[in-house]
Amino acid sequence: MKVLVATEKPFAAEAVKGIKEEIESAGNECVLLEKYADVSQLLDAVKDADAMIVRSDKVTPAVIDAAGKLKIVVRAGAGYDSIDTAYAKQKNIVVENTPGQNSNAVAELVFGLLVYAVRNFYNGKSGTELLGKKLGILAFGNVGRNVARIAKGFGMDIYAYDAYCPKSAIEDAGVKAVDSQEALFELCDIVSLHIPATAETKGSINHDLVGKMRKGGIVVNTARKEVIDEAGLLKLMEERPDLKYITDIKPDADADFAKFEGRYFSTPKKMGAQTAEANTNAGIAAARQINAFFATGDTRFQVNK
Ligand code: 3PG
Repeated sequence: MKVLVATEKPFAAEAVKGIKEEIESAGNECVLLEKYADVSQLLDAVKDADAMIVRSDKVTPAVIDAAGKLKIVVRAGAGYDSIDTAYAKQKNIVVENTPGQNSNAVAELVFGLLVYAVRNFYNGKSGTELLGKKLGILAFGNVGRNVARIAKGFGMDIYAYDAYCPKSAIEDAGVKAVDSQEALFELCDIVSLHIPATAETKGSINHDLVGKMRKGGIVVNTARKEVIDEAGLLKLMEERPDLKYITDIKPDADADFAKFEGRYFSTPKKMGAQTAEANTNAGIAAARQINAFFATGDTRFQVNK
C-alpha cells in the first residue's frame, strides 16, 4: 500500500526517518510531499495514495475527490478540524488522529510563552512571576493535563473547567475544578486555552468572557485561532489596557493586535508541536495506525465513525 506523508510544515528529519522505517517494515511504501507551496501539488500526490499522514494540512472535498484509492487519513496530532471528516465518511475513508502524542510539547510552549509575557517580552523592565498566580486551564484533555503537571512545578494555583470531563477527574489530578468557563475567567490571572475548534467553541472566547478577567489578566492560546472572537477581543484590549493576549496561532487580525505593543505576541508559525520528540511520537504513531489498519482492519483511533 502506498502511504503519502503530506506535510506543508514538515516533521523533524529524524521523525521522517522513523516514519519511513515503520511504514516500510510492514511492507508498505512511503512517499513524501513536504513543504508544498500549492494545493495542486497535494492534489497530484494523493492520486494513487492508499493512505495519508498529515499535520494541519487541509484535507478538503477536493483533496478527497482527487484521491481515488484513499482508504485512511491519519492526522499526526490531536486536532482534526482541518479535515472534512463528514465528507471522508461519505467516501468510506477512515479518519484518525494520534491523541496525546504531541501534548507535552504544546504544554511546554505554554510556559515558554507565559514567562516571556510576564517578563514584558524581555524588554529589560521589571515583570512578574508565575509562582502563586491563579492559572485557569480551559479543557482538561491531554494538553491541559500536561499544563497542570508543569504548572505545579512553577508553584501556581491551578483551576480547570472542561464541559466533557467530570469534576472528579480534574480533582483526581490535583487541580481545582470550577463550574463554568465564566467562573474560570473570573477567578484566574491567566487562562490557557485547550479547547478544540468545533461548531460549539468557534468564536466562544469573546469580549464578555475575557472581560470577566481580573486586572492584568493574560490569555494564552495554543489551541486554534478559530476559538477566538477576534473583533470582540480587539475591542476589549482597546477598553482594557491591562490585558495581554499571547498566542501560538497567528490571528487573522494579526496587524490589528500588533498595535497593542507589549500586550500581544504571536509566534510566526504554529510551534506548539514543533519538536523532534512530538514529531517522532505523533508521526510514528500515525504510521503504526496505518500499518494496523491494513494488517487487521484496526480502527481504534477513528474519529469519523
Ligand atoms: C495538534 O492539533 O496536534 C496541534 O495543534 C499541532 O498541530 P501541527 O502538527 O500542525 O503543528
